[in-house]
Amino acid sequence: MHAEHWAARVLAWFDVNGRHDLPWQNPRSPYRVWVSEIMLQQTTVSAVMPYFQAFMARLPDVQALARCDQDELMSLWSGLGYYARARNLHRAARMLVDDFDGVFPQDVETLQQLPGIGRSTAGAIAAQAFGQRAAILDGNVKRVLARHAGVEGWPGQSAVLKRLWAVAEARLPDTRQADYAQAMMDLGATLCVRRNPGCAECPVDADCQARAQGKTATIPAPKPR
Ligand code: ADE
Repeated sequence: MHAEHWAARVLAWFDVNGRHDLPWQNPRSPYRVWVSEIMLQQTTVSAVMPYFQAFMARLPDVQALARCDQDELMSLWSGLGYYARARNLHRAARMLVDDFDGVFPQDVETLQQLPGIGRSTAGAIAAQAFGQRAAILDGNVKRVLARHAGVEGWPGQSAVLKRLWAVAEARLPDTRQADYAQAMMDLGATLCVRRNPGCAECPVDADCQARAQGKTATIPAPKPR
């Protein structure tokens, strides 16, 4: 599998079918990408959108977020759930202002030192905000790659996860990092869904291992019980 051959098909699909009008894409800034990625960690795009808009109207930059009080932040977050995300966002904003002069780090390693930013979120920010060649591996992307590469087993298991990260890294394109990251998430969220995936519309069905082996229902494997 040549990375460019893979990415070219994913990107061509994205150009026609992907999401290009998400609020954090226009305008795109490190702050907006970061806040959106934290909100999207456990929440769907449609649920996030109104919260994101209200959040940006009230807290337009990292300085405003750093000095906002906890009660106000909680009221902006109220309804999104997983409130630890909001507390981490607040702590990270204060670190960015106090330790980074309000300037976002651009590399995955430094981004991961901020509260609430794990490896996949760091990759999503680095790719979308800075055009870095960085892999993402959220739940949607895990499903796309596990199926296409035929990676069996539960992705929560460290050996399986390690293989999926290796696949994600190996398939990164040399260009269009932000579009590619969004394309992978869109493919997983809209076509390569858990039940009844839209293989007939998929740009990479021709060499998808799960499809060829009739295993789209069993890859990725659910958590063993
Ligand atoms: N989930 C996490 N990040 C996302 C994004 N940028 N677009 C859609 N779903 C996402």
